[in-house]
Amino acid sequence: MSRSFGDGALKRFALRDVTVDLFPGQLALLMGPSGSGKSTLLAVLSGLLPPDSGQVFAEDQGRTVDVWAMTDPEREQFRLRHTGFIFQGYNLFPALTALQQLEIVLKWGAGLDNAEARSRAEDMLKRLGLDQQKSKKPAQLSGGEKQRVAIGRALVKDPTFIFADEPTSALDWENGKVVLELLRAAAHSRQASIFVVSHDDRMKEYADVIYHLNEGRLEVEHNPAAPAPIHLPVEGFS
Ligand SMILES: Nc1ncnc2c1ncn2[C@@H]1O[C@H](COP(=O)(O)OP(=O)(O)OP(=O)(O)O)[C@@H](O)[C@H]1O
Ligand SMILES: [Mg+2]
Repeated sequence: MSRSFGDGALKRFALRDVTVDLFPGQLALLMGPSGSGKSTLLAVLSGLLPPDSGQVFAEDQGRTVDVWAMTDPEREQFRLRHTGFIFQGYNLFPALTALQQLEIVLKWGAGLDNAEARSRAEDMLKRLGLDQQKSKKPAQLSGGEKQRVAIGRALVKDPTFIFADEPTSALDWENGKVVLELLRAAAHSRQASIFVVSHDDRMKEYADVIYHLNEGRLEVEHNPAAPAPIHLPVEGFS
């Protein structure tokens, strides 16, 4: 697919004829310099930003759906049910506590009752080391804590597709590893498709496949150092 911004002489391509396949059970890493189109690609694939040309297909319970041929409400439902998005700027709701940020997607998106939503949200925050922070609102959280809340919000509903834009940029390596293990477990234990943007070379060893984006063009590097798919029994991902 392609995507440009601007018109006429000011038209600039953020993505040029990009084709990418994301597979269930795979963690794909997307690298590339600032401005190369990484966030744009994530937005197009996840149903947030329409491409100028090209299509995005997703397998949905054995059925192939064309994400950009859906009506807006259909696409919104699809995103709510099946995709988790970790934004580069976190996009947390200022008025909600950490716990409420997670509960809300479980109640609205997954239709869980209050008790179930609370217990799953608490469990996820605990795994992200945020047990003590659950009653705080974003303004009372550090950058890394906000980032972990955003990650929890994307992962807590066990989505089929997870898009993560620099999910560890505000984290030290110990907390970053926790996040990467959670993402990898979602891929390898639940067969989710994960697409992670990062500049961090340390993340390469967690990836099954690595993509490089340069001035809107995509190249693939299969990772010879990739670990064999693991099947960790992960609590809460059943
Ligand atoms: N809404 C917009 N309007 C105009 N230009 C845009 C818009 N969004 C992105 N662009 C341009 O498209 C190109 C790709 O932007 P994108 O945000 O995808 O880059 P990126 O690879 O995610 O960069 P970074 O690593 O800095 O986050 C850039 O040149 C950017 O200026
Ligand atoms: Mg970006």
